[in-house]
Amino acid sequence: MNVMESVEVALDTSPENRGYTIHIGQALLTRIDLLLPHLPGKKAAIVTNTTIAPLYLEKLRSALTEQQVETFAIILPDGEQYKNWETLNLIFDALLKHRCERKTPLIALGGGVIGDLTGFAAASYLRGVPFLQIPTTLLAQVDSSVGGKTGINHPLGKNMIGAFYQPRLVLTDSATLTTLPDRELRAGIAEVIKYGLIHDATFFDWLEHHIKQLLARDPETMNYAIRRSCEIKAEIVSLDERESGVRALLNLGHTFGHAIENAMGYGAWLHGEAVAAGTLMAADLSLRLQRITSQDIDRIRRLFENAGLPTQGPDIAPERYLESMQLDKKVQDGAIRFILLDRIGKATLDNSVPAPLLLETLSACIANV
Ligand code: NAD
Ligand code: GLY
Repeated sequence: MNVMESVEVALDTSPENRGYTIHIGQALLTRIDLLLPHLPGKKAAIVTNTTIAPLYLEKLRSALTEQQVETFAIILPDGEQYKNWETLNLIFDALLKHRCERKTPLIALGGGVIGDLTGFAAASYLRGVPFLQIPTTLLAQVDSSVGGKTGINHPLGKNMIGAFYQPRLVLTDSATLTTLPDRELRAGIAEVIKYGLIHDATFFDWLEHHIKQLLARDPETMNYAIRRSCEIKAEIVSLDERESGVRALLNLGHTFGHAIENAMGYGAWLHGEAVAAGTLMAADLSLRLQRITSQDIDRIRRLFENAGLPTQGPDIAPERYLESMQLDKKVQDGAIRFILLDRIGKATLDNSVPAPLLLETLSACIANV
């Protein structure tokens, strides 16, 4: 069934309307009519990687060529370990070599790594050029392509360098998920579960009942999960684009998760896997602070387990976790700010977690400690 659904991301209207649309459906990759309004110069750079290029690049390029849009491709190495300055520079080299101008849009064709790199390149090349997202992983379709966070990793901290820079359009072809490895699919489901946990108990309940269909990539179930996730993210980003308040809740599990990714070496744990284990840590801390019930924690653990995701962190010394967590972007005046759960469907920000409780959580939630 080729039904297309759309979600609007409403942003402030001054100095220009930066709101945009997320289109979601099967076989949208060749719907060039949706892209054309954003390609005024009829020229575009497509940024992708060595894994995605053989799967989807030619399909997109030939559909654009049919509409007289001139394109060139920038094909980057694949992997979280390449989300860095050196790779960003490869994008700038190609843009300059092809004499790209202020009106030449960059199209990100790929997962969160490609989207974050391309968005940051678009934010900084000539001080800003148009940027379009065509996300091809579940994680990118439900999270990273929406909301305008772009950037790269630093050896000392995850996503520490970047810019808020919104795309003009997000084109989500859920049929691209058919080629996604199982492990990557599960990592994306971690971010889908996050939306239920922070904002929508009914959606969490729906996920408990549809996890098998999601893992089986049933198109209708998948499209609903993507749409509901995007609706929740769009609502939160519209309220707080620059994360001065409620948007921080989208980082449930990320303070612990980023520490795992950084300590294990970028790419060893997938982002979604680290978020899954990190969410159980945040839930454990919430229990110790008498916010959430153990019954809710059991449900959360069961859903992550049923999705095939890790529920314990790797065996890293608690001091190493703490060191990495001090470099989190949410740290304010030296205090780590945690996203905690009051119950399934309601998250809250807390910057006064007692250190002994945090150490108890780290000890309890790390495998083999
Ligand atoms: P990824 O971009 O590394 O993609 C995962 C793997 O799947 C890669 O090997 C990729 O080449 C491959 N792939 C992509 N699409 C495919 C397809 N359709 N078929 C087959 N293989 C495919 O990882 P990801 O999980 O998409 O993104 C993780 C990144 O996103 C992290 O760097 C994380 O920090 C970032 N992120 C950013 C935001 C944000 O708001 N900007 C939000 C969440 C995560
Ligand atoms: N992924 C968290 C955010 O976009 O704010």
